[in-house]
Amino acid sequence: MMTAGQTGFCPPMGWNSWNTFTWDINEDLIRQVADVFVAEGYRDAGYEYIVIDDCWSLKERDAKGNLVADPEKFPGGMKALADYIHDKGLKFGMYSCAGTHTCAGYPGSFEHEFEDARQFAEWGVDYLKYDYCYKPRTMDGELLYRRMALALRNSGRDILFSACNWGEDNVHGWIRSAGAHMYRSTGDIQDNWESIKKIALSQIDKMSYTGSFCHNDMDMLVVGMHGGSNNDFIGKIGGCTDAEYRTHFALWCMMGSPLMIGCDVREADEATKAVLLNPDLIRISQDPESRGSYVVNPEPQWLGNSGCFVLVRVLSDGELAIGFFNLGEGRREIPLQFWDLGITYGCGAALSLYDCFGQKELGSFRERFAATVESHDCLILRGRLQYDG
Ligand code: GAL
Repeated sequence: MMTAGQTGFCPPMGWNSWNTFTWDINEDLIRQVADVFVAEGYRDAGYEYIVIDDCWSLKERDAKGNLVADPEKFPGGMKALADYIHDKGLKFGMYSCAGTHTCAGYPGSFEHEFEDARQFAEWGVDYLKYDYCYKPRTMDGELLYRRMALALRNSGRDILFSACNWGEDNVHGWIRSAGAHMYRSTGDIQDNWESIKKIALSQIDKMSYTGSFCHNDMDMLVVGMHGGSNNDFIGKIGGCTDAEYRTHFALWCMMGSPLMIGCDVREADEATKAVLLNPDLIRISQDPESRGSYVVNPEPQWLGNSGCFVLVRVLSDGELAIGFFNLGEGRREIPLQFWDLGITYGCGAALSLYDCFGQKELGSFRERFAATVESHDCLILRGRLQYDG
């Protein structure tokens, strides 16, 4: 029987090197991230995978056709690094590509799938992110993902398979059957509000394509980066406000995306930690049934094109996660009529509401709750039904 805790059952949680460090990675950095994960409560909050993204190998395979870890960046080798991570009670992730080369021009796994999967298993890899650059144009993406899924399955190790084809080729229609545990559904995120908003809005009508065993990956989190990337595209300056990062995290939790941290956790400030480690938001994300959320009254007449909406996720214990989002400009009142949840006055129920970021009970409400939400901010509630008598 499948249970929570099995590979890919809930949206994976962890850290990935790409957003902040891109090419500038090495084993000391990875070890330090693992140390921080333990010392600062990330592991205990549920974050488990530490993933090295692109740029970890040499530009050429060795004479036997094996991938070789760059000896300058990883002098101790990948096995020792995996051991270090495992000793901390964490899991180790690496990256390759369905094409002949990775996006940064390192060797990819095209036509090397089975030997590479064996190599990853020998190193102790628990998670493989699999990109889509330099895929021969005539090759079918579904076939290539299926081939690597089979190779991993035959590697002798339980390895989470994270597909990354940026939402192309209608991936949501076939990736579940190809064997991925999570799949990127959008282009790369950037450390700015417009990027967060664009990704979230583009996935709202895709909620039926995410769930247990295969989760819609809206890309790594930019929470807490504050313009800290070493890469111009992702964002070297500015970043987002704390409210924008909070809203970003809440959207990813409510919409069932994996939660892969992308900031430098060694430098994370208190506001960043309060968001990433919020137990009530993580509980919504990791609800064992991984149901999609639905939108209540998208753009009702009185909200117009304001960018305001309510997302609802029914949790496995019967409680409701309710997110009031204001992605538009200016403070707005966002109303929720309980009949839209199926909770009519006639059914005799009230909703007892708890504010997940504010960490306080708001009281018991009938028929309606209206949230006043600042621009680019959100209010995330848990609702418990209470019946008369
Ligand atoms: C992109 C991918 C990014 C990152 C990058 C590495 O295709 O979407 O998340 O992995 O490649 O080159």
